[in-house]
Amino acid sequence: MNKLRLGFFASHGGSNMQAIIDACKSGELFAEPAVCASNNSKSRALERCRAESIPAYHVSSKTHPDPKDYENALIEILERHFVDTICLAGFMKKLPDAVLERFNGRVLNIHPALLPKFGGKGMYGLNVHKAVLEARESRSGATVHLVSSEYDRGKILARREAPVLPDDTPESLAARVLEIEHEIYPETLQKIALGEIII
Ligand code: GRF
Repeated sequence: MNKLRLGFFASHGGSNMQAIIDACKSGELFAEPAVCASNNSKSRALERCRAESIPAYHVSSKTHPDPKDYENALIEILERHFVDTICLAGFMKKLPDAVLERFNGRVLNIHPALLPKFGGKGMYGLNVHKAVLEARESRSGATVHLVSSEYDRGKILARREAPVLPDDTPESLAARVLEIEHEIYPETLQKIALGEIII
């Protein structure tokens, strides 16, 4: 069994990242949270990592205005911390193609809906849940998928459903789906660590 070395990219709260870190700490997930990078210097995600003594870096177009420097900085950080698997966890920027190529097929993301529905450009945050409610879906849920150069189109690794309730608001649905995200992301990573999912 290979212990995964995880590199996180997160822009805001980082609750999915925290769920993964917690699963590593409890032994449910055979992985090491190696490093986190955020484009947002004030993100809770960076704070969470620092609180856990996980190296955390602010890397953005502000710190690295030249796109080439930006992608090189990201790759350098990931290599320095021996990352073998990348977890996007609420990362609001497109990962540079050079990073995707370097970690070919080992970049995961979580999406707060049942892909391939309700994915693609503009489908983030509450927009996703508003669209689900407007479409009068009876079910939503979360999807863990591989990242390809097209938004939300990479191979689906796992999905889990949550009911949509008659009086749901985008916020209440988001909260229900987020609980599922916190289960399904660490579980999927553990399946990768165990070799039950081959990426
Ligand atoms: C989650 O809903 C995730 O599906 C999406 O961004 C949100 C991040 O939440 N990609 P958090 O930062 O992990 O709390």
